[in-house]
Amino acid sequence: MSSPLRISIPKANLATATRLADLGRQTFSETFAATNTPADMAAYLATAYSPELQLAQLQDPAATYLLAEMQGQAVGYALLAQHSTLGLAPEANARQLEIKQLYIVEDWIGTGLGKALMRRALDIAQADNCTAVVLGVWEHNERAKAFYQRFGFREVGEMEFKLGDDVQRDLIYRKGLAGRAG
Ligand SMILES: CC(C)(COP(=O)(O)OP(=O)(O)OC[C@H]1O[C@@H](n2cnc3c(N)ncnc32)[C@H](O)[C@@H]1OP(=O)(O)O)[C@@H](O)C(=O)NCCC(=O)NCCS
Repeated sequence: MSSPLRISIPKANLATATRLADLGRQTFSETFAATNTPADMAAYLATAYSPELQLAQLQDPAATYLLAEMQGQAVGYALLAQHSTLGLAPEANARQLEIKQLYIVEDWIGTGLGKALMRRALDIAQADNCTAVVLGVWEHNERAKAFYQRFGFREVGEMEFKLGDDVQRDLIYRKGLAGRAG
């Protein structure tokens, strides 16, 4: 029997953008509402998710959305960006894919969807001849850090992340693609 999980690169239209905005708002809230003030959350959500913003990302040739669906229901997504300079010295000449966002709907966490999206992202990076995949993760997001480490990501730096008025510390994780595992 074929798997009920479908991972696709969604079409760039307003209906998809609205769906991704709702999914992004929902999963970001599920992940971070408990550890931030309602005011900071509201300020961040307003700047990060709207049909117009997600439509612009869908239309950006340097960005790729991966949408995970189970029987037509959106259960997770990843947002990838080509040509990332995250964690690189200015003179470095590497080709890096960045996982800008990777979120699974709360009820589906721990069921293998994160792994499936990560594998698809690594396939895309490899097909694009990238030398590494990079991402930023909040320093206290232990579940995500453990997940990335299992794929061979290692900390290579840090950066600021502004959530509303709160300036937080994100770790930069990198995985070289030679001898890929996971
Ligand atoms: C981080 C996240 C994407 C991982 O996806 P997931 O679907 O829960 O993970 P999976 O079920 O695919 O697990 C994949 C592997 O990671 C392991 N894993 C998952 N959570 C883990 C944890 N908390 N600690 C250690 N390992 C973990 C699983 O055991 C599995 O390994 P295995 O196949 O060898 O058993 C998901 O938990 C999530 O969306 N979290 C909320 C949003 C978030 O924090 N996103 C990251 C922002 S930077």
